[in-house]
Amino acid sequence: MPKVEFPKSFLFGAATAAYQIEGAAREDGRGESIWDRFSHKPGMIKNGDTGDVACDSYHRAAEDIALMKNTGLQAYRFSIAWPRVIPGGEGEVNPKGLDWYSRFVDKLLAAGIRPFATMYHWDLPQALEDKYGGWRSRKTSEAFGRYAEAVVRRLGDRVRDWMPLNEMPAVIVAGYGWGRHAPGIVEARAGLNRIQHNVLLAHGHGVRAVRECGPRGCQVGTALNPRCYVPLCDSKPGHVEAAAKAFAHFNGPILDSITFGRYPEKWIAGLAADAPAVEPGDMELISSKCDFIGLNIYSGSYVRPPSEVPGAKAIPPGNLGIPSLALDPTPADGFLEIAMPAGYPKAGSINMLPQAIYWGVRHAVQVYGYKKVYITENGCGLQDQLVNGEVQDLERVLYYRLHLQSAARAVAEKLPLKGYFIWSLLDNFEWSVGYSERCGFHYVDYATQKRIPKFSAKYYAACIAARRVV
Ligand code: FCB
Repeated sequence: MPKVEFPKSFLFGAATAAYQIEGAAREDGRGESIWDRFSHKPGMIKNGDTGDVACDSYHRAAEDIALMKNTGLQAYRFSIAWPRVIPGGEGEVNPKGLDWYSRFVDKLLAAGIRPFATMYHWDLPQALEDKYGGWRSRKTSEAFGRYAEAVVRRLGDRVRDWMPLNEMPAVIVAGYGWGRHAPGIVEARAGLNRIQHNVLLAHGHGVRAVRECGPRGCQVGTALNPRCYVPLCDSKPGHVEAAAKAFAHFNGPILDSITFGRYPEKWIAGLAADAPAVEPGDMELISSKCDFIGLNIYSGSYVRPPSEVPGAKAIPPGNLGIPSLALDPTPADGFLEIAMPAGYPKAGSINMLPQAIYWGVRHAVQVYGYKKVYITENGCGLQDQLVNGEVQDLERVLYYRLHLQSAARAVAEKLPLKGYFIWSLLDNFEWSVGYSERCGFHYVDYATQKRIPKFSAKYYAACIAARRVV
């Protein structure tokens, strides 16, 4: 791998989300979210963990920003908790909630760190779940639009980079299809597609809010978790083409709609009566123009063309049993996914496939025409141990090295990749597995709330300082 310099303008950052780190669940007028309710239900979260205290970041902003500075971060992606800003989901704005984020943004800027704000990282106000059935109703999407306006009005003079919703597919399928995330509901296909449509409407409202309420120069784009596909063999055009087809097939229901303003025809036809109802003006709102796309990429799958194995059946999307928004593929879709063998190398529970970064970026650019791309999340969850004051997380160091090399390849080939955010700055509340998995490059000792840089923090800092993969 030749040494590639990341240009000066390339942003190295880290990401977190409100419910996963803030704690202070009942302070300063914060309302209840679906994650508060869900995590307190017995049996939902490993070891009965909740985000009540988490990393206590609500009280430790200065300390956390010092960690960012010590690592040399240029940007920080965080999320704003809707229930802090509008505790009931709609109606009154809680000034104390907004003030906290305003002060936080000032502190980031004073430290020379560019804020990237996510408006919704899964903490829906419980009041909207109770009143409207949450994302099952477009009333929730409209309420999101008003909340988005409130945060952009207050922070848009200083926050220039906005992401309306984190990982729309996860909001839909993990929360309402698979039931392992809040609100823990299992809907059939028609219901899920209706939820998808409402979530997409919220995305559109978020983009519109930035355009209408933000000063000129604000940038907006989603932070999506696309399924990523890697050609089995890069040098074979048939494999490269198969990977592009797989990317469009699986990500089409979301990406076609936000980018081109239409659902994929084949998808709508295949769904028949389960297709979402579209009202006039919906697709225009959903496809409100974005300035960039953010990609949360952790892993991917290999594909090859079906012509190589006549008669082979396509494998349905596996991914831990999470239902897919796409239709199950057939060989006529032009690709065959290859099942990962049991002994395939893993980082924690995920397959190591660093090429997914390069191909994810390339597909966003070449299949969907995006002109600016960020990797808004990348990282791995491990069982780190603190020994003699150190965390020797060599698996994570290897993971970062390989994924940064893949990002460097994208930059070297002049793909418009503009930044890379590691998930995560800190160990934190990892949704359904609670605190049992650690994703940070800083270890958090939850008993004392002490933060300890792991080997991976030092490694990342060295890469940032050198502006290349060391
Ligand atoms: C992503 C989520 C993030 C974190 C990582 C590990 O899907 O956006 O909150 O849980 O996975």
